[in-house]
Amino acid sequence: MTKHIPVMLDECLKAFEGERLQYFFDGTLGAGGHASAILGAHPEIEIYIGCDQDPVAIGIATETLINFESKLKIVRSNHVEIEKILKELGIHQIDGCLLDLGVSSMQLDEDIRGFSFQKEGPLDMRMDPSQKLTAKEIINSYSEKDLGRIFREYGEEKLWRRGAKAIVEARKKKRFETTTELAELISQSLPRTKQKLHPATLIFQALRICVNRELETLEGTLKKAIEVLRPGGKIAVISFHSLEDRIVKNVFRAASEPLKNLQGMKIAEPVLENLTKKPLLPSRSQISRNRRSRSAKLRIARKI
Ligand SMILES: C[S@@+](CC[C@H](N)C(=O)[O-])C[C@H]1O[C@@H](n2cnc3c(N)ncnc32)[C@H](O)[C@@H]1O
Repeated sequence: MTKHIPVMLDECLKAFEGERLQYFFDGTLGAGGHASAILGAHPEIEIYIGCDQDPVAIGIATETLINFESKLKIVRSNHVEIEKILKELGIHQIDGCLLDLGVSSMQLDEDIRGFSFQKEGPLDMRMDPSQKLTAKEIINSYSEKDLGRIFREYGEEKLWRRGAKAIVEARKKKRFETTTELAELISQSLPRTKQKLHPATLIFQALRICVNRELETLEGTLKKAIEVLRPGGKIAVISFHSLEDRIVKNVFRAASEPLKNLQGMKIAEPVLENLTKKPLLPSRSQISRNRRSRSAKLRIARKI
């Protein structure tokens, strides 16, 4: 299994440098790379809540973070449950929050998880294996119209219509079972002029976002996390594609402006100071060490 290299780690550490962190919420624990560095840099942390919906990630992080066992509360959950998780731990406010979105290298690497079009595996793509909906169900049972909408909205795939039609035609003869069956059909059906991306990249991205309801949960989590941050506390979010980044940008922007009523009158003060008007990007040397970081964007904000 490929070891997950934490993305924009130095930039994340810098974001929390000098801050007094007592309670920290890491909504995407993964292999615990960011967690290990943040815990190392902040001995004052009393409780580090590491949340991940993937039991495999939880297992790996538990081993990685064995030296910090006494401060760690590892929770297998979706980060959108942040309020419930904190309530169960008796924590009212947090001093810092990190979300490092998307999939980990371990998830991409395990063919059985079905995330990668480069590895033969079942069409699955669930981060939380206890969830019912899989990519296979979407591909084999959703209407052409719904498939098209998913490819257009979650993949920003220009050839969404053609992709959906090809899938619906092909499944009349045989149900799709594996990632490579789908990747091959997409390669044959979607002609590409610029061959920078594999033809199935955007379709696979769209399916993964849909299976895991990634965009809906992200917006919910951000709003709830801002609410539970203490004044002065910081939130840092690393996103990996424009749809995610747009949500982070919009939620941060809305919270950084005064709330107005329909007549344009101010009814509430802003609750957030946006510290990155433009997102931070990984350095060239980081990208050459870790290709997965090439599309990363980091946004940071502070609760007022
Ligand atoms: C990019 S990895 C995080 C890597 C981690 N920062 C590290 O350094 O090892 C993203 C992780 O977040 C998890 N994840 C993604 N969306 C989630 C959600 N809505 N709730 C909980 N975990 C989620 C995935 O299962 C994956 O393990």
